[in-house]
Amino acid sequence: MPDLMEKETLKTLKKEVMKLIPEFEWIKDKDLRNKTLEVWCDAMKQGGWTPEDLDNMPFTLLLDPCPASFLTHTRSVTTITYQSGQTLKKFYGDKIDINLDYLVAGAILHDVGKLLEYEKKDGKVVKSHSGKCLRHPFSGVGLGFKGGMPEEVLHMIAMHAKEGNLSKRMPGAILVHHADFMNFEPFKK
Ligand SMILES: [Fe+2]
Repeated sequence: MPDLMEKETLKTLKKEVMKLIPEFEWIKDKDLRNKTLEVWCDAMKQGGWTPEDLDNMPFTLLLDPCPASFLTHTRSVTTITYQSGQTLKKFYGDKIDINLDYLVAGAILHDVGKLLEYEKKDGKVVKSHSGKCLRHPFSGVGLGFKGGMPEEVLHMIAMHAKEGNLSKRMPGAILVHHADFMNFEPFKK
C-alpha cells in the first residue's frame, strides 16, 4: 500500500517541520495552516531535503560564509513580518489592508522556492538546474499555486525579492520584502 505509506511519511514530515518552525501555529485558519505546511513539505520532497538539512543549508549563496541557516532566516523573517503586521494593525486598524493569517503564510513561504533553486552536490549546496531556470520567487509561486494557496499569499512570494521592484507591492508584500532585506543587508561586507 504505497499510498498509505506516503500518507504516513507526509504526516511524520509535517510533524517534524512544525517542531522546527513553530511559527506555523500563528496561522489561525486550520485549513490555511495545513495547506501552507503541505506546500513546504512538498518543496522538501521535490528538492530532496531532510528536516536536518533545513538548519544546515545556507539561506543564500550570495554571502560566504553565510551567517544563518535557511531555517533561522525563515523563522526570523516570519517573526519580524508578523510582529510588524501586528504593530501596524494596532495603530492603523482597518486603514491598513493586512490579513495576519495570509501574512504569516506568505512570510513562511517567501523563500520556499529555494528548496528547488538549490541542491546538494558533493556535500556542498549549489544552484540547481531548476534554480538557473527559475529563481525562487517563480518556483515558490509554482509550488504555492499547486498547493492551492490564496493569491494574496502568492503575491507575497512573487514580490518579496528584486523581481517585485518592477511592480506595485501590496501591504503584506512590503512587510515581507523589508523583513527579508533586514535579514540580508546587515550581513553584507
Ligand atoms: Fe528570504
